[in-house]
Amino acid sequence: MDYIFTITKTRTPKAKPDETKLGFGNYYTDHMFIMDYDEESGWHDGRIVPYGNLSLDPAACTLHYGQMTFEGMKAYRNPEGDICLFRPEMNAKRMRNSNKRLCIPEIEEGLFVAAVKALVDVDRDWVPSVQGTSLYIRPFIISPEPSMAVHPASRYIFAIILTPVAAYYAGNDKELHGSRIWVEEEYIRAAVGGTGFAKCGGNYACAMIASANAKKHGCDEVLWLDAKEHKYVEEVGTSNAFFLIGDTVVTSSLTGSILPGVTRDSTLQLLKKWGYKTEERLVEISEVLEAAENGSLKEAWATGTACVISPIGVLNYRGKEYSINGGEVGELSQRLYDSIYGMQTGICEPEIEGWVVPV
Ligand code: COI
Repeated sequence: MDYIFTITKTRTPKAKPDETKLGFGNYYTDHMFIMDYDEESGWHDGRIVPYGNLSLDPAACTLHYGQMTFEGMKAYRNPEGDICLFRPEMNAKRMRNSNKRLCIPEIEEGLFVAAVKALVDVDRDWVPSVQGTSLYIRPFIISPEPSMAVHPASRYIFAIILTPVAAYYAGNDKELHGSRIWVEEEYIRAAVGGTGFAKCGGNYACAMIASANAKKHGCDEVLWLDAKEHKYVEEVGTSNAFFLIGDTVVTSSLTGSILPGVTRDSTLQLLKKWGYKTEERLVEISEVLEAAENGSLKEAWATGTACVISPIGVLNYRGKEYSINGGEVGELSQRLYDSIYGMQTGICEPEIEGWVVPV
């Protein structure tokens, strides 16, 4: 199906930032995508307009009760200068699932992907080409409806903004390094039956206090444990967690409190293709720490769109430090990074057909 969006170009294009000093989320491109929803017309009036402020009634219900969803994805420039997306239909599908949970009307997957492609195409000159950089894409839905009632809104705005970025974790631009992770026992990220599997602002707001706690303990991020027993591993910061124990790669199963990451899924598919044993199951923190002590925990890493593959060098549990692979980046973490980042940037041929989508 063809989707038609109107395009209004900016008359005052911005100067492009220095691609070697991007950071993460410091610059925004010249345009944004906007589409409205109301009960009579459904999702309608998709349009690309100059990037600018949204005007919101102070009573807009999103501001008060957090009814919103978002996505994170990236566009890359390959060595030929062409622009590609990575598995965008996965983000479209996940946003539909997030919307269902947050009582927000779903957006058809083809429409979501068409909107992303159209905006990236208009701002294609903003896709950086320096090693380790990309154009981060942030689709999100909010409601502008003024209301103090706690019930689903009847009007929404779907927007997409773009930001040229370097690595999410400073220092990962040139090469990977092992991060220090605080095993969090006081706070939880999500409980089964809650919104953990959905990508919504509340999951991130409630996590900030634990990140600050991790920093107080000299760590970069937190390892979340399950809400009920504080016994099972859930996620690392805003990413999924993987452990190479013996010859098997284990990751938490999608119990409902875990975000179904696109990089998580890509990692599992690649590992299976490469002949690794993989297990998606409940992973006890005691099993991980014991494996770290007896040397069978060979590697650990986090996966996410923003961080791609981020190796874990140290786990800090109740003040005791457990080093993984001597704090160094493991062979498998590096291979996964090289393969996924290589596919995304067109340095390597896609290992799995259909993953790399031209704009
Ligand atoms: C992503 O990995 O895309 C995320 O949404 C994480 C965000 C904190 C940047």
